[in-house]
Amino acid sequence: TPRVFSGIKPSGGLTLGNYLGAIKRFVDMQGGEFETIYCVMDMHAITVWQDPEDLRHATREVAAGYLAAGIDPDSSILTNQCRVPAHAELAWLFNCVARVGWMNRMTQFKDKAGKNAENVSLGLYAYPSLMAADILVYHATHVPVGEDQKQHVELTRDIANKFNHDYKVDFFPECKPVIEGPAMRVMNLRDGTKKMSKSGESDMERVNMTDDADTIAKKFKKAKTDPEPLPEEMEGLADRPEARNLVNIYAGLANMTGEEVLAVYGGQGWGAFKPALAELAVEKLAPISTEMARLMNDPAEIDRILAKGAEKAKEIADPILDKTFEIMGFVR
Ligand code: TYM
Repeated sequence: TPRVFSGIKPSGGLTLGNYLGAIKRFVDMQGGEFETIYCVMDMHAITVWQDPEDLRHATREVAAGYLAAGIDPDSSILTNQCRVPAHAELAWLFNCVARVGWMNRMTQFKDKAGKNAENVSLGLYAYPSLMAADILVYHATHVPVGEDQKQHVELTRDIANKFNHDYKVDFFPECKPVIEGPAMRVMNLRDGTKKMSKSGESDMERVNMTDDADTIAKKFKKAKTDPEPLPEEMEGLADRPEARNLVNIYAGLANMTGEEVLAVYGGQGWGAFKPALAELAVEKLAPISTEMARLMNDPAEIDRILAKGAEKAKEIADPILDKTFEIMGFVR
């Protein structure tokens, strides 16, 4: 069976972007033709400073988000990265396969490091090599992610190809990013040209998966828009980033396409659309935030679920790591 791997960093709270771009789609891929492995990427989180108490909390909160949204630990493998040492071990091997020039091309690194590239952690630079290990240590072939992770998954393919070529084997499979649906790049509610992210100055610019119903509704009602009514076709949204974002969010939440949303709301003004969007978002998200809060009352239970998932993950990852060592000539 083809394998799916994906994950989310516990570096702050989960947003609607994480939900539509990742978690909701993880749930959709579960229980079908794939074996699904979903992970809390704690070792990726520390590439930028994390307060230890915050990391502990956020790790459990991402796990709670997965569970509350419908990841079933009996049908998917659900764990956190640090519990499966094979990720870090394979990452070192990949550090010696990947080229510095490849890392230099990563747009996310350039954005995050900015002008300060001399003073970011070495881990932030090597981040994509650990990400490649996350995926390839399970021989996963399908990686559901939002638009911003596409380049990293493509680099994973380059690392697999170079390994296979250098060692004259056909060992690591080709993997591909799965980026499908209307909400693969959810934008900031106050500025439609910026991505919605966990960090960001104002809480009003994002919807958090832990927001309660009133907060969710308020954020959509106050979201930035323009004076025009909605067009009949998606092309009409080309130069209207805030409007396009809200239509895409509606589509993502309702399992519709943007075109289908406009078939209903085209020609109508914000006075009609915004309350409908707020209501839909509350209907879909409020039960998840309630369930997350319930799960967070029992962190020991979350830890048990993650520990059990790690045992299943190791059964797949350890033999693949062993074989990698053998191919490379290690005497163990
Ligand atoms: P992270 O933690 O930044 O985000 C987790 C997932 O959420 C998606 N996402 C979004 N999708 C749409 N709109 C948005 N505004 C938005 N914001 C975030 C991301 O695309 C991602 O799919 N490097 C990864 C974590 C990772 C990983 C992996 C993913 C580590 N190893 C292996 C897949 C496979 C990251 O930082 O995601």
